[in-house]
Amino acid sequence: VHRLEVTSERGPYPVLVGAGLLDEIDEVLVRHRLARPGSLVSNETVSPLYGRPAADRLALAPPIELPDGERFKRWAQVERLCAAWLEGGLTRRDLVVAVGGGVVTDLVGFAAAVYLRGIDWVAVPTTLLAMVDASVGGKTGVNLDQGKNLVGAFWPPRLVAADVAALASLDERQLRAGMAEVIKAAWLGDPSLLDLVEAWHAAPRVFGAQRWSELVARSVAVKVEVVEADERESGRRQALNLGHTLGHALEAATGYHRFVHGEAVAWGLRAVIRISVERGLLGPAAAARLDAATTWIEPLPPLGEVTPEVVLEHLVRDKKRDLEGVRWVLPTDDGVLLDQRVMADEVRRVLRQLATA
Ligand SMILES: NC(=O)c1ccc[n+]([C@@H]2O[C@H](COP(=O)([O-])OP(=O)(O)OC[C@H]3O[C@@H](n4cnc5c(N)ncnc54)[C@H](O)[C@@H]3O)[C@@H](O)[C@H]2O)c1
Ligand SMILES: [Zn+2]
Repeated sequence: VHRLEVTSERGPYPVLVGAGLLDEIDEVLVRHRLARPGSLVSNETVSPLYGRPAADRLALAPPIELPDGERFKRWAQVERLCAAWLEGGLTRRDLVVAVGGGVVTDLVGFAAAVYLRGIDWVAVPTTLLAMVDASVGGKTGVNLDQGKNLVGAFWPPRLVAADVAALASLDERQLRAGMAEVIKAAWLGDPSLLDLVEAWHAAPRVFGAQRWSELVARSVAVKVEVVEADERESGRRQALNLGHTLGHALEAATGYHRFVHGEAVAWGLRAVIRISVERGLLGPAAAARLDAATTWIEPLPPLGEVTPEVVLEHLVRDKKRDLEGVRWVLPTDDGVLLDQRVMADEVRRVLRQLATA
């Protein structure tokens, strides 16, 4: 089991990564002095696979099962959880355990942040994206009609337990999409992690638990390094937006239907690679390496009829300002540059190149 320690304004917490953690979740909590009365929350899909067995093992009541899907990451579910917790007599000294993907960990973490002004929680991420990204860093929240993650809190968990064995049941498309964040992490702080992603791509079926654990732990380590440098997102944390400026616009421009998040990020990475090459920030070898990595998670839904104008509209709308105010993260030979401006013509040109490539 890999163990990383994250420092946060609420105190340090460990991130454990390994195969089989769910099978010994009771002992894991005992070892971390988190064996307390509590409530386990999962969703309809994940609960039968991992939530219910974990609740049994922890001798907790059966899980509260949220509906599955990003569209349920909403206030209404927070209210429902808090009401159920009150009903169940959950006190401020008790514990909430969230078992699921990023939707579950974001929502449950947020409910934990506001329930009785804050209760401890444990994240048990079950998607690759939640393991390497959503469950680490302390951000929790829900969506509004006006946009994603507009209501939230910094409320780090007391423990993150990422059981890579859970990835075996994950939909392949979700797995590949999560790998986009691993590629991003590699570029931000651990370039040779790309070798491991390449090994997965070359032979996914023989990519064993040990290598999965290493892949997740090294990605987490990069996020931890970035987040610790800047918990409240003023500077360095922006680096995590590599590939995301355009990625978010692509998702929004297609009504969040066409692309899974990581797929849009992969297109976003391809775009900033090209912009950096044109600006002389990224040499041919580095550009080829990073660009190749985005092909390892193919097939990606094509850009197709997504027009540059619609994407530009969403780039600006998202930030509520003109394009000049949108700051991009651009890849360089040894990392990233923050706060870069990209003009509309560059965006149009790159999108056309990508659509016809
Ligand atoms: N807090 C943060 O810092 C942060 C960072 C990145 C993303 N996020 C959030 O994470 C969310 C996306 O998370 P996600 O990609 O994990 O999506 P998700 O939670 O919707 O999970 C994807 C799908 O996989 C299913 N699933 C989960 N684990 C499974 C397993 N082991 N086996 C089979 N099926 C499984 C889920 O039920 C769901 O249908 C978004 O809401 C995003 O805003 C938060
Ligand atoms: Zn992302």
